[in-house]
Amino acid sequence: MKIEIDKLISHLKSQGFVFQGSEIYGGLANSWDYGPLGAEVKNKLKKLWWDFFVRRNEYNIGLDSSIILNPKVWEASGHLGNFNDPLIDCKKCKSRFRADKLIEEKFTEMNVGGWTNQEIEEFIREKKVNCPKCEANDFTNIRQFTLMFKTNQGVIEDASSTVYLRPETAQGIFIQYKNSQRALRKKLPFGIGQIGKSFRNEITPGNFIFRTREFEQMELEFFFSPNDSNDWFEYWLEKVKFFLEKIVQINKKNFSIREHDKQELSHYSKRTVDIEFDFPFGRGELWGIAHRSDFDLNQHQKYSGQDLTYLDPETNKKYLANVIEPSVGLERLLLAIFCQSYVEEKIENGERIVMKLPYKLAPYLVAIMPLQKQQNEKANQLYKELLVDFDATFDETGNIGKRYRRQDAIGTPFCITIDFDTLTDNCVTIRNRDTMSQERIEITKIKKYLVEKLI
Ligand code: GAP
Repeated sequence: MKIEIDKLISHLKSQGFVFQGSEIYGGLANSWDYGPLGAEVKNKLKKLWWDFFVRRNEYNIGLDSSIILNPKVWEASGHLGNFNDPLIDCKKCKSRFRADKLIEEKFTEMNVGGWTNQEIEEFIREKKVNCPKCEANDFTNIRQFTLMFKTNQGVIEDASSTVYLRPETAQGIFIQYKNSQRALRKKLPFGIGQIGKSFRNEITPGNFIFRTREFEQMELEFFFSPNDSNDWFEYWLEKVKFFLEKIVQINKKNFSIREHDKQELSHYSKRTVDIEFDFPFGRGELWGIAHRSDFDLNQHQKYSGQDLTYLDPETNKKYLANVIEPSVGLERLLLAIFCQSYVEEKIENGERIVMKLPYKLAPYLVAIMPLQKQQNEKANQLYKELLVDFDATFDETGNIGKRYRRQDAIGTPFCITIDFDTLTDNCVTIRNRDTMSQERIEITKIKKYLVEKLI
């Protein structure tokens, strides 16, 4: 089903998933806060990623590094020299754009990655790529605009105190690679995963939470010997596809794989594959898998003067590890999941909006509902028992139809009704969010029932 993004945004706001950032002060452009239910889903998504890529992977370990790093890190990584976008201004209405995106938004099949600024400028002139605001075709030359957020550390505000908010979590991993490897006595191949905030002063943020200036990344840097004959790139590409399809249940039809051509590759990459998702506003990058070779370790070794080589215990030879990096934005993945889950359905007595979230990501797995006040005590007792092991909520207000609609709207997979008969037969009715079918089961069997649904 093709959904309208504005409807989704308004639904997510009214149900407490995502709010406009700083709303009571008129907002802050393109910033979003995660409400009580959004925070739940986000945390669950992080946990699923961490479990799959870190905790339960035979090779990997985790890390939590700082957001502000020694500025030399960004010199070494190439971000201070290369991490910028082509900025262009409309001379007539003074609006600013990313020059490459101006073309790609008009010619949606085109990809101008790797073009020179001159090629972009000529194309904009010749093919009449006009200003989307005022329709003029009179632009300034392109200037490179750095995406790094700058600030100062300490009380003195001069060049010596300049620091940057990290634009990716990856560098924190590279600079702690040796410590992590030594402390955990890891042998190649092994990976280090990290989840954390990244900041980019994007020229054109937008499309809701797709591109923001503050976001979280979930990144894995997988280190292996340059002599290793395994195809680790394919291995991690398959793992990412498995995670998308089986763990967070993204429909295969909604994503596709795109290989970067040589010109498009980032300064550090030997090979990159993007997994793209069909968002309501068009196809967009969801997850990138890059072969970073030994670029980063080599650079950090040069700039820090530290030995970052690995002594191979079998050959007794030293070398720099190569790296495969699967990297995804948490909020971008969340948006894909929200887009896919949001369903408007005609039902017997009207319509319903239902968030068909994977069970493991729903804010609540189960809602407990006493049919009448007389069953409140019994329902409360069950609620407290379930709360020990499951994400449960209690809903006693409004008629039962309204309560079902409310739980559908936030994606609760199961609703348990305690009715008059429960007090004598110790059975309850469980209703399934997706099929709306109901079954009657004994209270003592509920936990087993829910556990089975979560597997
Ligand atoms: N360490 C590699 C790296 O950062 P990237 O392609 O620039 O590579 C990786 O970013 C992922 O981070 C993207 O695939 C996307 O999911 C997410 N991402 C990047 N910029 C973002 C932004 N401004 N807002 C939200 N997510 C973003």
